Amino acid sequence: MRHAPIPPKLFIENRKRLCARLAPNSLVIVHANDIPPMNSDGTLPMVANSDLFYLSGIEQEETILMLAPDAFDEKLREVLFIRYASDHLKVWEGAKHSKQEASKISGVKTVKWMSELPTVLRQLMCEAEHVYLNSNEHTRAVVDVESRDMRSTRWLMRRFPLHDYCRLAPLMHELRVVKSPAEIDLLKKACGITRKAFLRVLKKVKPGRWEHEIEAEFAHEFIRNRARFAYTPIIAAGANSNVLHYIANDQQMKNGNVLLLDVGASYANYNADLTRTVPVNGRFSRRQKQVYNAVLRVVRAMIDAARPGVFHRDWQQQSQALMNEELLGLGLLKRSDIKKQDPDNPACRKYFMHGLGHPLGLDVHDVGLLRKPFAPGWVLTVEPGIYIPEEGFGVRLENDIVVTDGAPIDLMADIPIEAAEIEELMAK
Ligand code: GLY
Ligand code: MN
Ligand code: MN
Repeated sequence: MRHAPIPPKLFIENRKRLCARLAPNSLVIVHANDIPPMNSDGTLPMVANSDLFYLSGIEQEETILMLAPDAFDEKLREVLFIRYASDHLKVWEGAKHSKQEASKISGVKTVKWMSELPTVLRQLMCEAEHVYLNSNEHTRAVVDVESRDMRSTRWLMRRFPLHDYCRLAPLMHELRVVKSPAEIDLLKKACGITRKAFLRVLKKVKPGRWEHEIEAEFAHEFIRNRARFAYTPIIAAGANSNVLHYIANDQQMKNGNVLLLDVGASYANYNADLTRTVPVNGRFSRRQKQVYNAVLRVVRAMIDAARPGVFHRDWQQQSQALMNEELLGLGLLKRSDIKKQDPDNPACRKYFMHGLGHPLGLDVHDVGLLRKPFAPGWVLTVEPGIYIPEEGFGVRLENDIVVTDGAPIDLMADIPIEAAEIEELMAK
């Protein structure tokens, strides 16, 4: 792993909190992700399974965690199964975790080789009544390929058809949406690396340069700080800034363009999610600044509105009402557009057509039950935007915040966002 070691207390406490939510005589099984296959014999880098990481800190492929808090044999109440590195594997891929290493990372005392799994599984299944298995239940996930979780679920249900099988996902979502102080520290680290990269990039943006050159500057700063891209970056100059998921990053930046940068670092699997919109020549035009300041006012108001007890849906609606007023001020909407608007499709959606923000953590669009109100420890993005194809540019700004008992904490408060501040830095 590239990041500095994380004290296992985080994972030990996460397991404790999960086990407190289980029915008596339960068994939980959590798998590593598959290594994604590519063309020919190629593979993509594996992304750590967020739930496995949350519960164990282990990022190695072919790992399985079993939790059986009521197991008769105390040693089997927490068991980690890891892959044994044969001499052949060591030649090609190098060392894999030893049992001691896996135990040190996770705080799990019983670590076994995968070959021992059938015996332990049979014993734990014979004791368990309820079996909690994982599945991807993100509301926006559209997944056609069968995951390791799904394959294992089918395999297990064929062999033990009479157990009570339960969904682990809702429990994990409820736990993971509330971040502990140790997790917030890791998110701060990801935001700090993102800040460094943004400051570096401000010195490189100039007419004539290319979007992919800017992507390379982010990569440089992320990788040397033991991080990686949290998601495919959006480096969008001029009209590209109106394309919400623009990722081609292959165009030249021109004098008079804005450059929309939606980029975040991932450190120790914890993600930052930043958006800034900057002027390519170092000075916003009058119109660009008007739109910019409208978006910034909505960011500020909606950060402040993210309080415990507020529902995501109401927070979003509040931002749409504010945005209607801003668009009126910019001459993009008329009062009559707002008067006759469909409440389910408010007038602002013509220019602000995406959500205001989402939970953030081990996943960029993190898990969390949005039908529950915000609570202290939730981490959210706040990311309004105004996109005006007829004027050839769009502006989005995005900060990451923590909901607290009082005013939210802005994890990106130190990343320049005022138009004047950006222009000053670019003039240097
Ligand atoms: N970068 C993805 C998002 O802002 O949601
Ligand atoms: Mn983003
Ligand atoms: Mn976002």
